[in-house]
Amino acid sequence: MFESLLDIIRCPVTRSKLQLQVISKRKKKFLNEEIEIVWEGILYGDDNWFYPIINGIPRLIVEAFDDYKDFLQKHVTDYAQRKNFLEENNHRFLKYIRTKNAHTKASFAQEWGLYNYETDKTWDLDAQGMLNRFCMETDETENSLKGKFVFDAGCGNGHLNIILADNGTPSIAMDFSLSIVRAFDRNENLLAQFIQGDVQFPPVDFEKFDIVHSSGVLIATHNTELSFSCLSPCVQPGGKLSVWLYQPRKNFIHNLFNFIRNYSSKLPVRFQYYLYAVTLLPISFVVKRLKGNNQNTHEMMIDILDWFSPQYRWEHEPSEAAAWYHKRNFLGIKVTHNNMWGFNIIGVKNQKL
Ligand SMILES: C[S@@+](CC[C@H](N)C(=O)[O-])C[C@H]1O[C@@H](n2cnc3c(N)ncnc32)[C@H](O)[C@@H]1O
Repeated sequence: MFESLLDIIRCPVTRSKLQLQVISKRKKKFLNEEIEIVWEGILYGDDNWFYPIINGIPRLIVEAFDDYKDFLQKHVTDYAQRKNFLEENNHRFLKYIRTKNAHTKASFAQEWGLYNYETDKTWDLDAQGMLNRFCMETDETENSLKGKFVFDAGCGNGHLNIILADNGTPSIAMDFSLSIVRAFDRNENLLAQFIQGDVQFPPVDFEKFDIVHSSGVLIATHNTELSFSCLSPCVQPGGKLSVWLYQPRKNFIHNLFNFIRNYSSKLPVRFQYYLYAVTLLPISFVVKRLKGNNQNTHEMMIDILDWFSPQYRWEHEPSEAAAWYHKRNFLGIKVTHNNMWGFNIIGVKNQKL
């Protein structure tokens, strides 16, 4: 983590600035130079909330004090008192957080763990295709994007953020799952910075970003509109909020799959992997090959896991999402991309708010 990131990140619960205690620094290679970054540290917020920086990445989820207890016990002398304080004073809140998050973190960590940065495409697109799609979805061009500050809320494998950085577009790339660890290791561009965080508790300063983009993420949370409303304060006046959402389909197979996933998604995440590998993957392989689709087996499995394993998979109509923007006084609301699976919609935050 660069220390300059302290200007942007915030405690996800209290929204206070974070005080940094450095444990260790390390040099990381960025393009042609090695730069020293904070490799391990603790970030302290108000009201006793605290978060680790592990292997260069700030872990800014509400439940970080528990998820990373081994690391924190080693480095925070009064860890036990701090943890007890948080547990006692936030009993119901923490129960709610743990219930809503555990499955999602595990299912997406497994999904992105399959992704091979060398060989795999992301949603069937290569690097240029991903940049083109981002431009289309956000209604920008490669040129207009240069210098714009992007918050990618739910960045998945983080490949897009590396591509944006190579285009001169700085971004904060956040995901709930540990997909950010491999993305961070791979990244050599100073303009892409990775953090762990929850879209419902965005650990960044409000009104800082020119573009807040969240693609295929809000529908994987327990309440899409709630997540939308948690992200909208991050957009600066005149900036854009761009979201990609699934939409309902009148298609027998689609609805059958949704019916099956209602049950199968409740199974243990690792078990689901093996189950789908011996059932859906062979069928998908044959059908896709017959249709001339050349996806490799990782890519197919990622598609299958993305549909079947997340705890939540909501579908919305464009008019419903447009209403979320209207309610929050966004202007210039438009659907920028629409296919049988879903659509991307943008809105511009009213300057007068
Ligand atoms: C379908 S993937 C899309 C990833 C990326 N935006 C893309 O288009 O390739 C959904 C991502 O949302 C992340 N996610 C789900 N719930 C989240 C939450 N509450 N906060 C942050 N990320 C979340 C998952 O970990 C996963 O990486």
